[in-house]
Amino acid sequence: MSQISIADLIKTRRTRKPTTYTSPVPTSLVTSLIETARHAPNHHRTEPARFYLLNRVKMVRLAKLFGETIRGDKTNPALVEKAKKKEQEWRSATGLLAVTSYSDQESILVQNNPQVIEENFATTCCIMQNLLLLFENSQIAAKWSTAAVWQHPEFASTVGIKYPSNEKFVGFIFYGYSELSQSVRNLSPLQNHLVDFTDNQDHEFDQ
Ligand SMILES: Cc1cc2nc3c(=O)[nH]c(=O)nc-3n(C[C@H](O)[C@H](O)[C@H](O)COP(=O)(O)O)c2cc1C
Repeated sequence: MSQISIADLIKTRRTRKPTTYTSPVPTSLVTSLIETARHAPNHHRTEPARFYLLNRVKMVRLAKLFGETIRGDKTNPALVEKAKKKEQEWRSATGLLAVTSYSDQESILVQNNPQVIEENFATTCCIMQNLLLLFENSQIAAKWSTAAVWQHPEFASTVGIKYPSNEKFVGFIFYGYSELSQSVRNLSPLQNHLVDFTDNQDHEFDQ
């Protein structure tokens, strides 16, 4: 397929459910997309994003933790059913990446500028979108998920998070080849979200 314009890529990128993915993506391709995605705006050049490419064992363990998270005290049959479904979905995922944003809390930079933690998170979110677009551009379906399993006490050790106290969870990305096609989603009118002062006659600084 020919390359599409960046505008069309942004507009046609769609979240597709992992259950619709038919086959896995070679790890070498995923790592090369991650390498490209890292080129995002980054205040103080901290390179905050940390990537954990999960194997089947970790997916199965996370699936179990997610099941436990959803099921809770098992008193709600609907949640028990949902837990079963999600557990199955996670254990058989074609590909799963966990992404965190690293900020060294003890560093002079963070001590002097605590807002760096948020800025690092912002950079990592840019990287997440870069990745989703790069996946789409390679005809790979993907889904950003903040499934509550990250709140499970065993999440960090199960994933193998290197510095749990310095890494904020940003999201999972499920990925895989999918036959499902996607289309542009209509958004609410821009004028509801845009304040445009460019036509106003501001005389504040006229003298
Ligand atoms: C920060 C973030 C967290 C998300 N978490 C979930 C999630 O936990 N479960 C889910 O089904 N989708 C999740 N999504 C995907 C959104 O539901 C999806 O982007 C939205 O429905 C719009 O669809 P689109 O991506 O096709 O434009 C998440 C998206 C973002 C940006």
